Formats: sequence, C-alpha cells, structure tokens
Amino acid sequence: MNISTEQYLSIINESLDKYIKQTEENETDCLLESMRYSINAGGKRIRPMLLLEFCRICGGDIYKAVPFACAVEMIHTYSLIHDDLPCMDNSNTRRGKPSNHVIYGEDIALLAGDALLTLAFEIMFREDTVGAIGESKVIEISRLLSSKIGFKGMIAGQVLDLKNEGKEIEIEKLKIMDERKTGDLIVSAVKIGCIIAGADEEKIKAAETFASSIGLAFQITDDILDVISNEKDFGKPVGIDNVNKKSTYVSMLGVDKSKELVMSLTNTAIESLNNFEQDTEFLRDLATLLSNRKN
Ligand code: IPE
Ligand code: IPE
Ligand code: MG
Ligand code: MG
Ligand code: MG
Repeated sequence: MNISTEQYLSIINESLDKYIKQTEENETDCLLESMRYSINAGGKRIRPMLLLEFCRICGGDIYKAVPFACAVEMIHTYSLIHDDLPCMDNSNTRRGKPSNHVIYGEDIALLAGDALLTLAFEIMFREDTVGAIGESKVIEISRLLSSKIGFKGMIAGQVLDLKNEGKEIEIEKLKIMDERKTGDLIVSAVKIGCIIAGADEEKIKAAETFASSIGLAFQITDDILDVISNEKDFGKPVGIDNVNKKSTYVSMLGVDKSKELVMSLTNTAIESLNNFEQDTEFLRDLATLLSNRKN
C-alpha cells in the first residue's frame, strides 16, 4: 500500500516526539528543550522519509524501520546545529527560526548536538528496536551508519568544506566533499531501509545509485539556493557561502551549469528506480520535487 508524504510526516514527527521526552523535571531541562527546539523546527524530513519508503518498496514493514528513521533525522539535526555554530558556518537562522545557539548559547547547542547523536544510537540499541528486526541487522546498520557519518564520511566532508574555503579546487575534489558531507547520510538512510526489508544486493546497489545521485544533487541545489533564493523561502541566510568563501559547484561552475548537473543527476536517480518492481512514484516525485525545491 502506498503511503503519502503527510502520513510519513506524521509517523516520523510523532515518534521523534516520543523519543525526545523526559517525564520528570530536572536540572538538564534546558538541554532537552534545545534538542526539541531543533528537532521540531520544521525540517523537511527527507532522510527518514527515504529510509521508510525504500523499506516499503523492498517489501519491509515500515513500522520496524521507524526507530532508525528517527535516528537518522537526529543525526542530521545534530549536524545542522553544529554546522551553524560561530566556529563553523556562523549562521544565525535555520529552518526559518533563530539557530539553536542563538537561543540556547553555544555551549548548550554543542551539547544538544552531542546528545542527539548519542540518542540516535541509544534508540537503535533499545530492546524493542533490536527485538523487531534482530541483532544481526542492527549490527549491520550500526556498522554502516557509524562509518558513513564519521571521520571517513560526513565529518570528513565537513572538514573538507572548511579546508576548501577560499580555494579554487578541482571539480572531482568538490564532488568528494559533497558526497561526504551530504551524500553519505542520505546513502545510509536509503541502505538502512533496504537492509531492514532484507533487500537483495541488486536492489541495494540500485538504491545506492539513487541516493548518491540525489544526495549530490541535493547539495548542489542547496548551493544554488544560497545564491538565487531569499531568506524567507530558504529558511536560512542567503549569500552566506560567499561570505564564508565556500567552494561550491555554483562558485566554480555558475548557476546555469549547476542546474544542468542537478537535472542530470536527478534523471540518473529516477532511472535507477527501474530496478524495483513496486510502485516507485513517491520516489520519482520526491526526486523531481527536490530538484525544484525552494527550501
Ligand atoms: C540541509 O539539509 C543541509 C544540507 C545538507 C544541504 P535539509 O535541506 O534536508 O535540511 P532540513 O532538515 O530540511 O532543515
Ligand atoms: C551542510 O552543508 C552539511 C552538513 C551539515 C553535514 P551546508 O553548510 O551547505 O548546509 P546549510 O546550507 O548550512 O544547511
Ligand atoms: Mg556547512
Ligand atoms: Mg551551513
Ligand atoms: Mg548550504
């Protein structure tokens, strides 16, 4: 049975709310408040939706995948809280609201990011989560996710992003940076959905092609919007890449060439969906929507 975006959003949002809750009042309430602030600030939930939809089209039970979808969104949100800090991109607006550190201070923002990252793994190892899909899949998923978001994955990408500020770099290096900082988490989300469903190698490979293509297209679109959008639509400051002297596809190739690249990557992603027997309309529409998005 097909599931709509609205249904996915309500499943994801309700579960995130349930996971980030404390029953008794205590001295660390500001931490919880800061975590909830960013988690509930209006993110598009692209990564958890992709995880659940790939699980569905590979024949899996999406409800067993929900804790993992929430974990991935927590990791994504942590990466954004840290990305906005003055020592990183120094950005004061996120998801149409003041960035986490603007409200809670740099110290609590840093710790809220740490706590979201840790909570993601706590949830994946909960007894009920492990009971639902079995220990071996949980180990496989944790192995994949921790390697993709760590020093060879997302964090490596963030370091390259900082190191490449103010530099003219080769397109191949730019591609590697974007694949690490943005693509790796999206690829993980999609593969986790496939693993939970018990998908075969061929499907996992096709899913990976889909995810790496839309992942790169996603970051290029983000870089384009930084130049052509406005803060109200984008939900975060525009022109900040230029202020920070970031090396992006737009700074290297210009807006038009970057848009062409997004189109071609989106087409590659959509073609990869031919490897699935189930209805892939949701994913086709999502890929197209993301390439034309305003935020
Ligand atoms: C923003 O990601 C960071 C990038 C990788 C470009 P999203 O655009 O998915 O952010 P939210 O979650 O919708 O705010
Ligand atoms: C963010 O890239 C990538 C990660 C947070 C891992 P950007 O710095 O371009 O994202 P925005 O524009 O601040 O959302
Ligand atoms: Mg950044
Ligand atoms: Mg940033
Ligand atoms: Mg950006």
